[in-house]
Amino acid sequence: MKYQAIIFDLDGVICHTDQYHYLAWKQIADEIGVYFDEQINNRLRGVSRRESLEIILEAYPGRLTEDEKTYYTEKKNGLYRSLLQNMSPADVTAEVRETLDQLRAQGVLLAIGSSSKNAKAILKQIGLEDYFDAVSDGTNITQSKPDPEVFLKASQFLGVDPQHCLVVEDARSGVEAALAANMDCAAIGDATKYNLARYNLQRFSDLLQISHGDGSCGR
Ligand code: BG6
Ligand code: MG
Repeated sequence: MKYQAIIFDLDGVICHTDQYHYLAWKQIADEIGVYFDEQINNRLRGVSRRESLEIILEAYPGRLTEDEKTYYTEKKNGLYRSLLQNMSPADVTAEVRETLDQLRAQGVLLAIGSSSKNAKAILKQIGLEDYFDAVSDGTNITQSKPDPEVFLKASQFLGVDPQHCLVVEDARSGVEAALAANMDCAAIGDATKYNLARYNLQRFSDLLQISHGDGSCGR
């Protein structure tokens, strides 16, 4: 394997909490009375909760006070946390599980690099709380993606230099964060649209082609 470690984004890569983020923000946007759709939601990928609200408010002609912003971000998180209760180990596909197992069998270290403060709760919910060698998330960073902090922390936790790490991301902000961390990146889902990453994955298991040194998922 070309890389000693792979750092995975969580939401939209390992499991599909992105739909729950959308539903929770949609309810908040409706309450505020501001337009919100899936396209705007794509801009929230990888971005912190508070910055997500600011992006949603770009379409709002009025102004919210700091207290109102705190109220809405907390309410969004409450709605999101209740939706997360629906998650179970069945939310991790067989493809994702088998790919992770094969990478691990090749001796690659595996970590999570997520902007979310709910990452550990989600990992528990999907039965992967003890699976990764390191978890770097919204609780150990001061800057969210596209700042490289979350990935640099993950590489420190693993004890692997950034140039030996590969990041897997579904967010444009996440691909930018990986590049800023001096790490190679494999884009999946929405992030493939921007052609910024070294690899574009059609499916999660394409990671095994990278690990076998077959460049067929390079762009
Ligand atoms: C990222 C999501 O993983 O976490 C973003 O892609 C989200 O959409 C961010 O805003 C923060 O999540 P949380 O769980 O701390 O509100
Ligand atoms: Mg994501």
